[in-house]
Amino acid sequence: MSLEATLEELKTSALRRIEAASNLEELEVVRVEALGRKGILSSVDMGKVPAAERSGVGKLLNAVKTELTKELDARKSRFESAALQARLEGEWMDLTLPAGGVRPGALHPVTQVQRYLEDVFTSMGFAILSGPEVESEWNNFDALNIPPTHPARDMQDTFWLEGGNLLRTHTSPVQVRGMQRLGAPLRMIAPGRVFRNEEVDPSHEHTFYQLEGMMVDRDVSIAHMLFFMKTLLREIFQRDVTVRLRPGYFPFVEPGFELDIQCLICGGSGCPVCKQSGWVELLPCGLVHPNVLRSGGIDPAEWNGFAFGLGLTRLAMMRYAIDDIRLLNSGDLRFLNQFR
Ligand code: PHE
Repeated sequence: MSLEATLEELKTSALRRIEAASNLEELEVVRVEALGRKGILSSVDMGKVPAAERSGVGKLLNAVKTELTKELDARKSRFESAALQARLEGEWMDLTLPAGGVRPGALHPVTQVQRYLEDVFTSMGFAILSGPEVESEWNNFDALNIPPTHPARDMQDTFWLEGGNLLRTHTSPVQVRGMQRLGAPLRMIAPGRVFRNEEVDPSHEHTFYQLEGMMVDRDVSIAHMLFFMKTLLREIFQRDVTVRLRPGYFPFVEPGFELDIQCLICGGSGCPVCKQSGWVELLPCGLVHPNVLRSGGIDPAEWNGFAFGLGLTRLAMMRYAIDDIRLLNSGDLRFLNQFR
């Protein structure tokens, strides 16, 4: 058989095997056998080819090589795209499915109560104000009719800061800021975090939340105050709550009151939260002292008002029957997950 015929046959059989290869590995075996350095085509010894035929054989060899290479490449890319297709199908996922294991967050119980009360008060025309947690001594005490020598300063154990400032012990300084900024008439609430240097126990925390409220207008009376306090309590507890009013002393109100509610945890029979008394101090309030109006730049001859300082943390405890205040700042997810 002539060399040409042999090459032709080699080519045909290689093409057949390329066609028969069923994956990339088999195809590679065919390529090495046909085109590899020790393969069939390389075994043609040009030295033995008569000089006159060499260029013809060379051309033929190249043509066979080119054709086989082209076929191999084509087959290879078909295998590769089939493999890619299979992978795409295997790894397909539905990105619109909700991710497993991711649980949505929720608002802290105190925040939930705060937001709710903000809605209640904005619906009654109150503005929501905020003030800084680091306050001046003047805003926290002096402006509220508590001069430096006043014994009432000892009622609230204060965290003093360098330079004479302090961590506000109540949200009442925001009353002063509110009066100065907005003037009279005024309806405002100021929810916020307050700090006292206290021993921590089931009903006391050094860090807790209050919601301050103030209304300044002409001829404001205790009747107005009681109306708003009762509305507030009915909205928050979604039922009628038993209350009692006791005289209470706060230098910034005159007269001043303690509005207590019957303990919602024990129903009045006594438990750690109400210190076995059956009542919980919830709402200190009173008519704004003339000196406080003056601090806010408001003339007490023309205006008066009421103010209250709601214990937001304590209210949240009542609302959700939480029997230990320390849970609220604990960050304990076993506790917090109950409010989702
Ligand atoms: N600021 C007072 C406190 O934290 C509460 C209060 C506010 C009392 C407004 C009367 C009027 O103890």
